[in-house]
Amino acid sequence: MNAAVSILISEAEIRERVTQLAADIAAKMPPDFLIIALLRGSFVFAADLIRALHRVGARPQVDFLTVSSYGKDTVSSGTLTVHRDISEDVKGREILLIDDILESGFTLYHAREELRRRGAKNIHIAVLLEKPGKRKTELNADFVGFGIPDKFVVGYGLDYANYYRELPFIGVVERGAEPA
Ligand code: IMP
Ligand code: MG
Repeated sequence: MNAAVSILISEAEIRERVTQLAADIAAKMPPDFLIIALLRGSFVFAADLIRALHRVGARPQVDFLTVSSYGKDTVSSGTLTVHRDISEDVKGREILLIDDILESGFTLYHAREELRRRGAKNIHIAVLLEKPGKRKTELNADFVGFGIPDKFVVGYGLDYANYYRELPFIGVVERGAEPA
């Protein structure tokens, strides 16, 4: 199936950008912070980012949250379902919330609201990818890896029907090559 996916962002480009992002994040975040990575899509990005953060001196704690959001036309009509919750108490904590891609913004908007509701002190947001022009919420990410065109992308954690997450690059599935 690999041959049917064209490369949009190469492994080398991702590596370089993740290194830069880690430096930006380490410069802005306080010494003690908790990373909350949204599963499943952000697991590869999060794994690389935390090691890049280590190299620039950051020592974050890490937790994972599995959610899905069903956004409708407005934020207020969207809802968040928590499938697997974090283990840490976020009350009073500095949080770095990580996701793979920011599109409408519903997922991150509702995840951030939930963490605020639980008493998080500050929430910064980092995403690997952003599709400009698709936003349906006021939410902006503090750290963005790449702006990409409005195409469905896979790889580096992102899926199509739960396939292609293992690709080491970000690619576009060519028409007719969708998994069965
Ligand atoms: P949002 O809530 O509309 O911002 O959508 C974000 C979520 O939709 C991400 O966490 C992804 O799981 C998924 N998503 C959006 N665009 C893509 C894509 O191009 N490829 C794979 N997943 C995507
Ligand atoms: Mg996702």
